[in-house]
Amino acid sequence: MDERKIMQVKQRYGIVGNCEGLNHALDIAVQVAPTDVSVLIVGESGVGKEAIPRVIHDNSARKHNKYFAINCGSLPDGTIDSELFGHRKGSFTGAVDDREGYFGVANNGTLFLDEVGELPLATQARLLRVLETGEYIRVGESEIRKTNVRIVAATNVNLQKAIKEGKFREDLYYRLNTISITVPPLRERGKDIERIFKKFAIDIADKYSFEPIRLTPDACELIQKYKWPGNIRQLRNITEQLSIISEEREISADTLMKYGITDDTKGEPGLVLHSGARDRQSDAEVHTYESERDLLFMMLSKIGNEVKGLKEFIQSNLETQNRGTDIYTVFNEDNMPIQKPVYNQPIYPSGVSVINDHEYQQSQNMPPVEVEVVNETPLSNKELMKKNIIEALRRNKGNRKKAALELGISDRTLYRKIKSYDLDL
Ligand SMILES: Nc1ncnc2c1ncn2[C@@H]1O[C@H](COP(=O)(O)OP(=O)(O)OP(=O)(O)O)[C@@H](O)[C@H]1O
Ligand SMILES: [Mg+2]
Repeated sequence: MDERKIMQVKQRYGIVGNCEGLNHALDIAVQVAPTDVSVLIVGESGVGKEAIPRVIHDNSARKHNKYFAINCGSLPDGTIDSELFGHRKGSFTGAVDDREGYFGVANNGTLFLDEVGELPLATQARLLRVLETGEYIRVGESEIRKTNVRIVAATNVNLQKAIKEGKFREDLYYRLNTISITVPPLRERGKDIERIFKKFAIDIADKYSFEPIRLTPDACELIQKYKWPGNIRQLRNITEQLSIISEEREISADTLMKYGITDDTKGEPGLVLHSGARDRQSDAEVHTYESERDLLFMMLSKIGNEVKGLKEFIQSNLETQNRGTDIYTVFNEDNMPIQKPVYNQPIYPSGVSVINDHEYQQSQNMPPVEVEVVNETPLSNKELMKKNIIEALRRNKGNRKKAALELGISDRTLYRKIKSYDLDL
């Protein structure tokens, strides 16, 4: 392992930690970078998969060419083929011009296909072809085109399970999986948890010019015992919430517990999370959680009534400090309300991002997103969901993409819900 190189990578991409699993993942990324082989990055939601394709691109011979990050989960089924492979003018309603498509414009560069498990089967077939032969056909055309694109894909779902269910092509899985890199969950990172907490505490303190929060010894112990179902994203959200809301700069285990951080080593039947990356990628029949929303919901169910108290606590603090909002209500796929912190991590604005170095660095420091607190009312989950959709659309002037981002659901889920609730919008 080239330790110096790995240290440089960590510094350049703001990756904190020194545990074996992280170093191993970065080592493979650096080693595989100069080749053209496809790489599949696996790991739970929020573990830090998105930095890896960038590391691979920047350490390859393609580094001066284009790098595109595409979130397959947020491209609507109807346009995904044309986004990726291009189309000819007039090939479908709305195709007012020729479109090159990412496989065309990324020629000689790298395409990062995030949430690759979300690709529709027809698109998977096209992707397999381009991976095997470098050939593709634009929508509405018969002419075969050539491209030379390196593919890095990522997923937080169990693709083998998706294969069994007929949702993902087995041949594509093996083609993408030439090399796989597993990014370990936060709970397996030992002392790194504290190091990452410190980084986030310092970042936010610098931003708003206040003293960084620190953990008491019992709080340090507690964060090692908690499962962190939302991984580093969850750690960052909690650190930012505490930094802003807590009057005390020294955070105790008791305070952390108010935020749902519990000693999970004691175990509670029925709520034990089996979402390790190894389980997710294996055939084992374990209960897995397919999205961070499910994981957060499980976590919040666990703290049950404490959530209400916590909300009141936060809201009253916010009112007195007049510092904006920090929690809003969203719904998971089962229409169950969950609380989300206001600080979104960088997400692709429209499902796709073309990033240069400068923008990439900036994207790591996105400002907080302002979202109104949704007051609790005795409405059913469905009614609450409808209400939130209507309000999110209103706030975003009818822009469905932005509303979906704000609600923490995919575009497709939002379209589905608008349709199923028969909302006249
Ligand atoms: N080692 C680390 N040190 C500091 N910050 C990190 C580290 N790893 C991840 N992060 C931060 O944690 C957040 C979540 O990471 P990222 O978006 O890469 O997760 P992900 O694995 O892609 O999750 P998902 O599957 O939900 O898309 C990001 O803000 C990222 O910058
Ligand atoms: Mg991601």
